[in-house]
Amino acid sequence: MTFDDELKRSVKKVIVSERELKKAIKALGKKMTKDLEGEDLVVVGLLTGCIPFLPDLLKELKLKVLVNYIQASSYEGQESSGKVKIGGVLKESIVGKHVVLVDDIIDTGVTLKELSKYLYDNGAKKVTTCVLASKIGTRKVDFEADYKALEVPNEFVFGYGLDYDGYYRNLPYIAALKDELYK
Ligand code: IMP
Ligand code: MG
Repeated sequence: MTFDDELKRSVKKVIVSERELKKAIKALGKKMTKDLEGEDLVVVGLLTGCIPFLPDLLKELKLKVLVNYIQASSYEGQESSGKVKIGGVLKESIVGKHVVLVDDIIDTGVTLKELSKYLYDNGAKKVTTCVLASKIGTRKVDFEADYKALEVPNEFVFGYGLDYDGYYRNLPYIAALKDELYK
């Protein structure tokens, strides 16, 4: 089966086009540049969902920043497991710094809440959170992302960093999964 055939089987519709993504990320970068000027910043990307959002956002930040990564996963398949497994970040680089934590999407809020706590516990002076997409009406914990490029409806979405069972992070747009595939 070709890649196009695979896509036809999974995509219900494109919900954010490549052009809309570029525009939203540019606008977000501009706002963050204005807000975060003068801060001692470390941008920490959550692997793997922060790619390709993080590199695109970084190019729009006209700020002096360090870049670091952390690994965490809360998802198995399409349901949030409610547990977050955290892989290490270079501790020395965040002590006393303002950390900007970057992820693909906020859904229940569990991942960003846990990771923020972890970064504070490891010496961050301040933690600011930033996501490409914010799912509407799905929070299970009291937590909101400080910055979001866009909002998406409560559907399973994939592409541009968001995976469907590990695949499709490389799509240049965000698509909604066909209802019959949504478990
Ligand atoms: P939360 O902890 O429920 O906020 O979930 C955050 C994580 O769940 C994100 O980092 C994503 O990896 C994943 N996630 C949530 N919703 C979706 C989706 O619609 N598509 C793909 N991944 C998702
Ligand atoms: Mg993720």
